[in-house]
Amino acid sequence: MSQLLVTSYGDPRRSVSLERTDHPALGTDDVLVEMEAAPVNPSDLLLVRGDYGMRPSLPSPLGGEGVGRVIDAGGGAGQHLVGRKVVILPNYEQGTWADQVTTGYRNVVPIREDGDPLQLAMLPINPATAYLLLHKFATLAPGDWVGLNAANSAVGLCVIALARLRGFKTLNLVRREAAAETVRDAGGDRVIVAGDDLPAQIADALDGAELGLALDATAGRTVADLAAALRFGGTIVSYAYATDAPPAVRAHDLIFNEVTHTGFWLLNWLRHAPRTEIEQTYRALNDLVADGDLTVPVDATYRLDEYHEAIEHAMTPGRSGKVLFTFA
Ligand SMILES: NC(=O)c1ccc[n+]([C@@H]2O[C@H](COP(=O)([O-])OP(=O)(O)OC[C@H]3O[C@@H](n4cnc5c(N)ncnc54)[C@H](OP(=O)(O)O)[C@@H]3O)[C@@H](O)[C@H]2O)c1
Repeated sequence: MSQLLVTSYGDPRRSVSLERTDHPALGTDDVLVEMEAAPVNPSDLLLVRGDYGMRPSLPSPLGGEGVGRVIDAGGGAGQHLVGRKVVILPNYEQGTWADQVTTGYRNVVPIREDGDPLQLAMLPINPATAYLLLHKFATLAPGDWVGLNAANSAVGLCVIALARLRGFKTLNLVRREAAAETVRDAGGDRVIVAGDDLPAQIADALDGAELGLALDATAGRTVADLAAALRFGGTIVSYAYATDAPPAVRAHDLIFNEVTHTGFWLLNWLRHAPRTEIEQTYRALNDLVADGDLTVPVDATYRLDEYHEAIEHAMTPGRSGKVLFTFA
């Protein structure tokens, strides 16, 4: 088998290497997955930098999520999965940037046979994150507004698609015009290229409406302006930090408008949610992805041995879609 490993914490261009070995013997709870596709996500790059919510001991296999087919099981527990198409859950107990992955049977979820393998490879992280952000933090009714920054990101586009299915409206912040076009094409209701007078841009776009929920992927100065547009008792959820600046909310909004500022990490949900909830959530999202109702633009695919190019591409600002590894 071939797999990519992080060998030292630092710049992803210099900290990743390709290893070719026999796959390890399967434990009784293990299954062997022949991989079809696995994306390069910002979380993978954060992990290589040593700036993620975990720091595994090195060398450590890389790749949070992906899709493939179970071709063997080490014991009876995973036998029912042999032959099934599965996604690998992003709990980082295994690395998906590999042609074959050995993992516990509970770290995979069987999925439908149909659908675009590239889209299915991206099912475990971003669609699930978007779904949980929309459902865990606020009780929203059709017509309510959800505000988000980095709206052209994969998470952002999934939020827009899922919000539309529920009848919610979205106020979308991006940082460049081409990204605004992407978000408009995806059905974002209001789209703002964040400028120097963001509060006025937001007020103009909402035209008297208030946000029921705000979702923050960048930290930094847009957080205060999104939070200031929340209705009384509204919630802003920070789930990523594309900038190094703190995600600050003005004291005025916390105190007088009783705004709540909290955080979300998918791994905490995977660790603590009942297994039935996890499987039901992925089944529902699998249907949306396989039917083409939830799609994320793809910029390029690479073979595993092209990992230098793949990582460089994934790190390029302003790319128009995701970068994935595919396996013959
Ligand atoms: N908490 C969780 O459980 C969880 C789960 C999933 C994802 N995430 C995080 O959510 C974020 C989005 O993930 P993704 O896979 O959807 O990302 P993606 O599709 O790769 O898109 C990245 C987004 O970040 C924006 N961005 C990058 N640097 C920025 C900066 N300095 N200032 C403002 N915007 C910036 C990009 O804008 P341009 O297009 O203009 O470059 C783009 O909109 C990532 O940080 C990821 O780690 C967190």
